[in-house]
Amino acid sequence: MSLEMKIMVAMCDGNRGFGKNGRLPWPRLKEDVDYYLNKVKHRNNPEKKNVHIQGRKTWQGSHRSRTSDHNQIQIVISSSLDASKDPLHPIVVPSFEEAVKVATSPEVKSQVESIWIIGGQRVYEAAISHPLCKRIYLTRIYKDFDSDVFFPSFEDAFTESSDPEVDGTIREDNGIQFRFEVYDRK
Ligand SMILES: NC(=O)c1ccc[n+]([C@@H]2O[C@H](COP(=O)([O-])OP(=O)(O)OC[C@H]3O[C@@H](n4cnc5c(N)ncnc54)[C@H](OP(=O)(O)O)[C@@H]3O)[C@@H](O)[C@H]2O)c1
Repeated sequence: MSLEMKIMVAMCDGNRGFGKNGRLPWPRLKEDVDYYLNKVKHRNNPEKKNVHIQGRKTWQGSHRSRTSDHNQIQIVISSSLDASKDPLHPIVVPSFEEAVKVATSPEVKSQVESIWIIGGQRVYEAAISHPLCKRIYLTRIYKDFDSDVFFPSFEDAFTESSDPEVDGTIREDNGIQFRFEVYDRK
C-alpha cells in the first residue's frame, strides 16, 4: 500500500500569509501549536514513526525548540545544509522529488505511519501538485498579518472535508480568531 502525504499549515484567511522573517507572522496561538504538535507526532501504532518533510528555513526556524525524537524522521530539502554539522542529523536531500523518494523507499516506508509536509512555500507548492498528497490540515487565521511567504492556491484540486478528531468551530486566542479545517484531494 502506498503511503499518503498530508500537509499541515496555518495561514491568514485574506492574504494567505504563513511566515515572516523566518518566524510565524502572528503572536503565539497556544491551541494551534498544541494541535500542530499532536497531529504531526501522533501515530496509531507506537512502533511506527512519522516523516516530516520541510525546507531548510522551516527546519532552522524550529530548531531551537526541537529535541531529538526517535519517533520522527526529519527530511530537510536543501542545497546548503551540512547534515554532519547539525546535532539532530536530519536527512538532507536536494529536491522535493528526492524527499518523496526517500520517504517512500522500502527501508523507510516499512517503519513509517504518516508523511507530513510542514512547509515552506516551495515545499507546499510541490506537495499540492503531487498525487500522493491527499489531505491538508489548515488552520485558518481570521486576521491578516504582514507576511513574506504565502500558501499556494489549492482550492481547485481539494475540497473541504472533515476528520472526526478535528473540531471545526471558531476559537480565539490573543484576540485572534481561527478555525481548524480539513481538505481532501478531489
Ligand atoms: N504557518 C505555518 O504553518 C508555517 C509552517 C512552516 C513554516 N512557516 C514559516 O515559513 C517560513 C519558512 O518558509 P520558506 O518558504 O521561507 O522556506 P523553506 O521552504 O522552509 O526553506 C527554503 C529553503 O529550502 C530549500 N528548498 C525548499 N524547497 C525546495 C525545493 N523544492 N527544491 C530545492 N530546495 C528547496 C532551499 O534551501 P537551500 O537554500 O539550502 O538550498 C530554500 O532556500 C518561516 O517564516 C516559517 O516560520 C510557517
